[in-house]
Amino acid sequence: MSEKLLEIDNLRVIYKTDEGVVQALNGLSFHMDKGETLGLVGETGAGKTTTALSILKLLPDKIGLIEDGSIKFNDFDIVTGSEQNMRKLRGDKISMIFQDPMTSLNPIIKIGDQIAEVLELHRADMTKSEIEARVDEILTTVGLPTSRKDEYPHQFSGGMRQRVVIAMALTCEPQLLLADEPTTALDVTIQAQVLELMKKLKENLNTSMLLITHDLGVVADICDRVAIMYAGTVVEMGTIEDIFEASNHHPYTIGLFGSIPDLENDAERLNPIKGLMPDPMNLPTGCYFHDRCQECMEICTIQEPDNHIVDEKTNHMIKCHLFDRTKHSDDLEGKMHEPAFN
Ligand SMILES: Nc1ncnc2c1ncn2[C@@H]1O[C@H](COP(=O)(O)OP(=O)(O)OP(=O)(O)O)[C@@H](O)[C@H]1O
Ligand code: SF4
Ligand SMILES: [Mg+2]
Repeated sequence: MSEKLLEIDNLRVIYKTDEGVVQALNGLSFHMDKGETLGLVGETGAGKTTTALSILKLLPDKIGLIEDGSIKFNDFDIVTGSEQNMRKLRGDKISMIFQDPMTSLNPIIKIGDQIAEVLELHRADMTKSEIEARVDEILTTVGLPTSRKDEYPHQFSGGMRQRVVIAMALTCEPQLLLADEPTTALDVTIQAQVLELMKKLKENLNTSMLLITHDLGVVADICDRVAIMYAGTVVEMGTIEDIFEASNHHPYTIGLFGSIPDLENDAERLNPIKGLMPDPMNLPTGCYFHDRCQECMEICTIQEPDNHIVDEKTNHMIKCHLFDRTKHSDDLEGKMHEPAFN
């Protein structure tokens, strides 16, 4: 039986700006099991980074606010948890790799000392020499020579810096790793090396990983399950096979993937879809995707769709009126792509 590690339920997050209120997450729900890798995919502005920042409770002070919903990590309630308890979690049980390694590195501290700081904060029982040994060990694990631990971040290449960040993120052997486009800033060959490294480390430590990426090849290669996000909600979620091989999909997923690529062929990067994501300060009624959807029905402009499980075995979920078998049969009649339920 798989064990739940993280459970996000109906999460609503806003950003208060001078121009108005940005509705960034609008009823976001998903869970992660221990040891699994969940890919979080969606266009720019879908709310992927906001999701990761909410889990760490690192939303910008007084601007980013969790309005509703819950985030449970094991039995700990992150939304109501104190800052003191969150400080204990961050970098220890949950850590994050940002897109730009310099976001996580201090330019004026030697990299060995930066990794040691994480251990000093979370492993009070470790002696100085134990910490030193652990720094050497984790640097070796990520493929960096220990002789370079007294160098500063600017003395490393982009790929090496990201390895340092991975070392920092993994040194306390977290249960959950949040990786926000961890390789986008790197060139292609280094990307592959860093991803391979993350995959191996994750497997060795049985860490769960939330992998935010635009790259469907990476998703197919590394993830166990995928959540497709649109305008702050998950519109489709399932196993890799559900997303890449099953016949039922959310119209947005179909648009995003161009056509659904199969796992054998090289998956491509996300396809640009005609039209724009709705203005998060002025979200439309009904389904947020309705003005870009070729399958749009009358109900879609009025009522938000429910989450429908289209495959009970895998829990393949699609949030779309097309998959509601109990209602709107008149609306569905004559649709070109009437869904075939498994
Ligand atoms: N600090 C902020 N202040 C105001 N609005 C913000 C802030 N951060 C994010 N937003 C808005 O919240 C929404 C979600 O943004 P988020 O950064 O989570 O998207 P994303 O999916 O990570 O996008 P990308 O793929 O570009 O990284 C967007 O409309 C964005 O403009
Ligand atoms: S609910 Fe309607 S508008 Fe939304 S994706 Fe489904 S068919 Fe398209
Ligand atoms: Mg982002």
